[in-house]
Amino acid sequence: MRRNSAWSLGLGCLFLSVSLSLYAADATVDARQAALKPVLRGGIVYKAYCVVCHGEIGDGVSRATQLYTVEQLRIRANLTRDEYEVIIRRGGEAIGRSPYMPPWQEELSTEQLDDVISYLAIVNQQNTRGRVVYQTNCILCHGVNHDGKGRAAVLYTPKPSDLIHSDKNEAYRRSIVSLGGKAMGRSPVMPPWGLQLTNQEIDDVVQYLGTILEPR
Ligand code: HEC
Ligand code: HEC
Repeated sequence: MRRNSAWSLGLGCLFLSVSLSLYAADATVDARQAALKPVLRGGIVYKAYCVVCHGEIGDGVSRATQLYTVEQLRIRANLTRDEYEVIIRRGGEAIGRSPYMPPWQEELSTEQLDDVISYLAIVNQQNTRGRVVYQTNCILCHGVNHDGKGRAAVLYTPKPSDLIHSDKNEAYRRSIVSLGGKAMGRSPVMPPWGLQLTNQEIDDVVQYLGTILEPR
């Protein structure tokens, strides 16, 4: 679209418009990356300290569910930051709720508390969770833009795949992500994630990859 209208205005304009649109695309990517940072860090805190009780998607289905109840362990999505912060810092008992929610203010830094609250805002959104998994584990090879041009890509032949233009279906993507390249007759450089990521994380990242596809 942009290109077509630029052509009609001549080559000079084409150059200007393409460079401006590249610049705009970069700025948007940067802004989105910056906004994601607390969520990425918060995901690490959540997975280390909270998942055992609240579950990977915040619905209260977790290893601790038998001790408490799903209902109690579900994290409601509609609380304000302040409401989250009070119970996380001080624990359930201090505010007249279940003593089984521990106080975290001694254990976590203020930054970790802020970050984990940012993660709570997305914990029930599969697509964003998938994005967090991607950004935490895959960008080194596949790149922040999913184009296969990550920082480590130069080290490998064949190159990490361009995931935007994948011609594979979802079942294939799920298999290569969990089993790795070697098991699928492809490069062993693509690691098997089945042991490192949970089934939920694999579901999330595969679902996310489905949302970034573009036809060639
Ligand atoms: C040992 C189990 C356990 C762990 C670990 C735990 N929680 Fe909780 N949490 C609970 C229980 C039980 C409740 C319910 C309190 C109540 O409703 O009386 C709760 C409630 C909450 C609530 C309030 C939810 C709502 O919708 O009202 C938030 C927010 C919360 N926890 C965040 C966290 C965060 C963040 C972490 C990790 C830093 C964490 N919890 C770790 C057991 C736990
Ligand atoms: C160490 C580098 C590296 C990392 C990290 C990595 N990959 Fe890969 N990946 C590759 C390489 C290389 C290939 C291409 C293999 C080939 O063509 O033989 C590949 C291929 C793939 C493919 C196949 C795409 C297609 O269309 O055929 C998918 C899907 C994929 N990777 C997803 C992921 C996901 C998701 C992660 C993170 C959880 C990840 N990769 C992390 C290197 C990596």
